Amino acid sequence: MSITITPSNHAVPDSERREKVAAPGFGKYYTDHMVVCEWTEEDGWGVPELKAYAPISLDPAAMVFHYGQEIFEGMKAYRQPDGGIALFRPEANAARFKRSAERIALPQMPEALFLETVDALVKQDAGWVPDKVGESLYIRPFMFATEVGLGVRPSNRALYMLIATPAGAYFNPANAVTVWISTEYVRAALGGTGEAKCGGNYAASLVAQRAAAKEGCDQVVWIDAVERKWVEEMGGMNLYFVKGTGASATIFTPKLTGTLLPGITRDSILSVAADLGYKVEEGMISVDEWRDGVASGEISEIFACGTAAVVSPVGCAKSAMGTWVTGDGKPGEITMQIRNTLLGIQHGTIPDTHNWMKKVL
Ligand code: PLP
Ligand code: COI
Repeated sequence: MSITITPSNHAVPDSERREKVAAPGFGKYYTDHMVVCEWTEEDGWGVPELKAYAPISLDPAAMVFHYGQEIFEGMKAYRQPDGGIALFRPEANAARFKRSAERIALPQMPEALFLETVDALVKQDAGWVPDKVGESLYIRPFMFATEVGLGVRPSNRALYMLIATPAGAYFNPANAVTVWISTEYVRAALGGTGEAKCGGNYAASLVAQRAAAKEGCDQVVWIDAVERKWVEEMGGMNLYFVKGTGASATIFTPKLTGTLLPGITRDSILSVAADLGYKVEEGMISVDEWRDGVASGEISEIFACGTAAVVSPVGCAKSAMGTWVTGDGKPGEITMQIRNTLLGIQHGTIPDTHNWMKKVL
């Protein structure tokens, strides 16, 4: 399937774009173009159109506004040493987008079509990809229900869209993230939508995020819905615990029980940590084990991981059960080693032995 390309006639002037890309923030500026592609039950997927970034018009009765039938992805394009651009594991995002679609009863977009739209937008807006290490072009594919009607049923029309925003380095090594372990709210239960990347999960998380902020914390940590003790994930990121220190350390992450979002960064770190010679383990960790492990020193570092921030150290944890701090509250050595290795692979300065990077330009 080919894409219809209509370049914008009002692209941001070069000098202004360069200024924006030099201090991008996150989600502050959007590139000159977007992709839209319609799906209908009768005709399936239409031809994707790449065109000027612009507001869209929707009927007020479009189903997405009423029943929240929406999914999204988050992925990045990185500048390479030769000035080219490469995507990090785009096939993994395409596959997860399909799984999310299935769970939310939206149409499954063929992976090849998804990848073609991403490739086309990155090529068209290549001038928006930052150069500095830790910076990237954050790409946001999303899809929502557009059938007009208030009946509660899977929509027979959907719109897929793709936008992109230059993203700065999220990471401030001086500040480890402070987390609030929520015993009041639940993110996901088995049979629910925890494994899907759907807008509704984030809508449901906001009140907990606000409660965390009220406690002076940056992020909320979710625990399981049934026993209310197993650590699952943090806000929009997965969690890792470093047990022990030095070369004999074990890098541990909560296993995918069906209620966690299967993070692509999480999956990549399982390989990166093993490549670096660490023991890697997926399992269950309770809040008590977290507190006791930190107190005894067995847990030496904690970090969160996700596409947006890549790797963020977690320092202080607060909860109804008390407050405890990991190590000296500063980013740990292994955390930084894993972060720098992953970023090195993404920026093409460390060999990509897993064939994760897909060259665009
Ligand atoms: N967990 C949640 C709830 C998320 O929203 C994200 C972000 O995408 C992640 C984990 C990390 O996933 P990934 O590494 O694929 O970005
Ligand atoms: C992540 O990429 O880690 C995210 O949490 C994405 C977020 C902006 C929804």
